[in-house]
Amino acid sequence: MVRRKLIAGNWKMNCLSADGVALAKSVAAQVKAGKFDCEFLICPPFTLLGLVKKCLRGSKVGLGAQDVHFAEKGAHTGDISPLMIKDLGCSYTIIGHSERRVDHAESNQLINQKAVAAHAAGLNTVICIGETEKERDAGKTIKVCQTEINGSVPADSTAKNTVIAYEPIWAIGTGKTPTAADVQEVHAAIRQALAKKLGKATASKMRILYGGSVKPGNAAELLSLPDVDGALIGGASLKADDFIAIAKNASK
Ligand code: 13P
Repeated sequence: MVRRKLIAGNWKMNCLSADGVALAKSVAAQVKAGKFDCEFLICPPFTLLGLVKKCLRGSKVGLGAQDVHFAEKGAHTGDISPLMIKDLGCSYTIIGHSERRVDHAESNQLINQKAVAAHAAGLNTVICIGETEKERDAGKTIKVCQTEINGSVPADSTAKNTVIAYEPIWAIGTGKTPTAADVQEVHAAIRQALAKKLGKATASKMRILYGGSVKPGNAAELLSLPDVDGALIGGASLKADDFIAIAKNASK
């Protein structure tokens, strides 16, 4: 089963206009100049989506948001609807990132609702899951991932409209990563959970990204694992050269 790798940058709450434009332009230029087999996605903060879209014009780099509300429109001060994101030229939105699960107490049920709304608006979703350090130490990693898959991934998910990102919370922004064997074991278990929920055919085609301290130095090993179909990159996506250096390992 060939799953085209997805190299996605989550800029989180970083960049003002000038840095965001420079970063997006540099990524777009390097993607254009290089030879890559993978799909590229960058997810700037909401404030930069319009500006970054202009920088990506004519390039093969896709644009994504970092979250979305589940309602089409209405009285939700401060929130952004799926159609608004689509209107800005996004093809994807990240949902259920652990920073939103923690900072905004987002539940699996809410993330599921957001996914349904995003898919209905024609957006693809990157649905994030992953365990805390305490859960990992207690040997609960796979159980936590199964529960999050069951709760957050809607029944309408297909291999086309949904990408899963496994991001162990303790590996995010820490420089720590699980061993390659651990990553492969968890990704395989996630694919099994997806098969149970969505059927084997869908699960075998659905991409599962790894996220958490992905850097140019560890990308080759992580991206060579059989069930790792790309990366969701935080810190290293803020440096165009690092982001591209990671992607070079996805094109082998
Ligand atoms: P880092 O790559 O900075 O660890 O962040 C990972 C992440 O949370 C991407 O969504």
